[in-house]
Amino acid sequence: MTTALATDKTKPATAPQNQEFLADVLSGLALQQKQLAPKYFYDERGSQLFDDICALDEYYPYHVELDLLPKVAAELSHFFHTEQAGDLSVVEFGAGSLRKITPLLKRINTVKNLTAIDISQEHLLNSCAELRHQFKHLDVTAKVHDFTQPLSLDKTGLTRMGFFPGSTIGNFDRIQALDFLRSAGQTLGNGAYLLIGVDTKKPNDILHHAYNDAQGVTAQFNKNILTRINRELEGNFELQHFAHHAFYNPDQGRIEMHLRSLREQHVRVADHEFYFAKNESIHTENSYKYHAAEFTDLAQKAHWYTRQVWMAPNDLFAISLLQHQPSNASNNDC
Ligand code: AVJ
Repeated sequence: MTTALATDKTKPATAPQNQEFLADVLSGLALQQKQLAPKYFYDERGSQLFDDICALDEYYPYHVELDLLPKVAAELSHFFHTEQAGDLSVVEFGAGSLRKITPLLKRINTVKNLTAIDISQEHLLNSCAELRHQFKHLDVTAKVHDFTQPLSLDKTGLTRMGFFPGSTIGNFDRIQALDFLRSAGQTLGNGAYLLIGVDTKKPNDILHHAYNDAQGVTAQFNKNILTRINRELEGNFELQHFAHHAFYNPDQGRIEMHLRSLREQHVRVADHEFYFAKNESIHTENSYKYHAAEFTDLAQKAHWYTRQVWMAPNDLFAISLLQHQPSNASNNDC
């Protein structure tokens, strides 16, 4: 695809690696309800801001899941022994900083190799190097890849378990979540397991504070996407004229994040101009919340059967162990 680029010779044209970003931003801002995809939050600054969010007390999904993982890991170790699963090969989707795999590796001594999949190369390679250092007998492979797309893995003959923590699946609507689960089923294969962290529905005030923290870190995280557009796509968003707006939408069962225009204005991105009415918003993220039973049903539609669910105190967060069983495949064990 060719895109008209700015003619100012002193500035570099939009870099080739930004062409897809540019196309997505231009088409998203041309929609009736303007929107941007949350995957674009995570440039270097955005990844740092997300880590800062995880350090907040109000952002319960991070520390509640992390606190639950040691217990999950201990029980999983026992479970796999009972299943006679043998040695394990773990595949982490969207591995990021790989902080959540450590409690599992410490307690499940049958894990022989780890494939970490993430789109951001530098972050991933650093994390993998650290893990190799910490777990000397673990075979660690880094794959720079968009984890929503199927990937062909080397055959190991080991039992596979996918790991998808953090309720990242919450960013997907129902259709996208089913696509991801089907694609993960294809990548991991028949009989494979998937350990997945899913945020739950809960009283509105807890949800509200998690996405409207007192220090305004989430607001900075949300607005950073505009800074990124300004830098990488020659945009001219003025951040002071946009406000962070996050709320729970009970009909959809999701948190929505928006950037709301504080006045009527025009904004340029590359050589395109966009009009904003006062209070018009850009929808930047959805974060779906599931009752345990809702998630079990969703997973089953993608041929993932729930083997066990661990609930954090006060049902604040769930970790489910699923097993893939395509209907047309025969199970060797039966
Ligand atoms: C990384 C998608 C799980 O939806 O809670 C945190 C991202 N956005 N605060 C979430 C996020 C605002 C987070 N996920």
